[in-house]
Amino acid sequence: MSDLLASMLDLASRALANAHAPYSRFRVGACLRAASGRLYAGCNVENASYPVGQCAEATAIGSMVAAGDRQILEILVLAEGVELCAPCGRCRQQLAEFARPDALVHLCGPEGARRTLTLGELLPLAFGPDALGLSP
Ligand code: THU
Repeated sequence: MSDLLASMLDLASRALANAHAPYSRFRVGACLRAASGRLYAGCNVENASYPVGQCAEATAIGSMVAAGDRQILEILVLAEGVELCAPCGRCRQQLAEFARPDALVHLCGPEGARRTLTLGELLPLAFGPDALGLSP
């Protein structure tokens, strides 16, 4: 595993440990690498009103935007179970707002990356600003 991936995994793991997931008991951590080189981690934050819950990726995106970064170069998602945990549809759209289709997405378990693919593979033909007549 590269040093960078190890750092991203470590940050995602620390965030996962703080996940607020008392309803699903499914803790998720995420880490984003921005164009500035900074890393942003997040965890899922559930709510007693179930639909109000927030995914780990969304938490990380919020931190990134609040810090002033706007370009995601690499994404890591960490879950604890044996199944592969891929970003939900909403998160794919949220990630596509700030990442190009060639951005790498690492789907990880505690041991490391189980599968790496691109955001374009996860969300082909994404809806974006071009559809609104705007430049990205
Ligand atoms: N979840 C994430 O945080 N990220 C994903 O990529 C998939 C699902 C969360 C949402 C919810 O808190 C829990 O996992 C179970 O769906």
